[in-house]
Amino acid sequence: MTDNPEISEPPFTLPVNLVLIGFMGSGKSSIGRILATKLGFQVIDTDALVVEAAGMQITDIFEWKGEDGFRHYESQALAYLVERAARKMVVATGGGIVTLETNLPLLHQLGFVVQLTASEDVIFERVSRNKSRPLLHTPNPRETISQLLASRAPLYAAAADYTLDTSTKSHSQAAEAIIAEARRRYPA
Ligand code: S3P
Repeated sequence: MTDNPEISEPPFTLPVNLVLIGFMGSGKSSIGRILATKLGFQVIDTDALVVEAAGMQITDIFEWKGEDGFRHYESQALAYLVERAARKMVVATGGGIVTLETNLPLLHQLGFVVQLTASEDVIFERVSRNKSRPLLHTPNPRETISQLLASRAPLYAAAADYTLDTSTKSHSQAAEAIIAEARRRYPA
């Protein structure tokens, strides 16, 4: 039991963690934070683990070690979370985590894998607000988004246990929808 009325009670028995995947700007970090608050879970961001391990910002990792170097850190961060076997986590992943096939079983070992989606327009609008994503440092970011979305869509779909379109939902509505689905699949 919890005394905090903000925390959904009871949540669900299994899986022990929620794992958010999806394209840049699909809402993983923001919705992850709200989910964690609603459930009383800890929120973990694989990008933050990568920055900590590398001792530099993501744009610098891409510049000095390339995308392959970044992916290496990202896979290590995922493996670390699986090994740690912690419970009650909401894990917000980087948008490219599905591009390495070896990451997929790790995502599933961690927990219930939820893909967040949004329309291309919404993604463009959201990612235009900050410049911290090196893959979008191109002459035509809109076109880059379009191409990356097309090539990654099947990868996200193959990795996801459940998919939620966040285009027209508030963060709180999206979080409630994920909790409802987790409850439905893993009743207490
Ligand atoms: C990336 C997404 C970013 C970050 C890095 C690469 C990608 O995370 O991991 O810039 O390949 O899609 P967000 O999805 O949180 O923006």
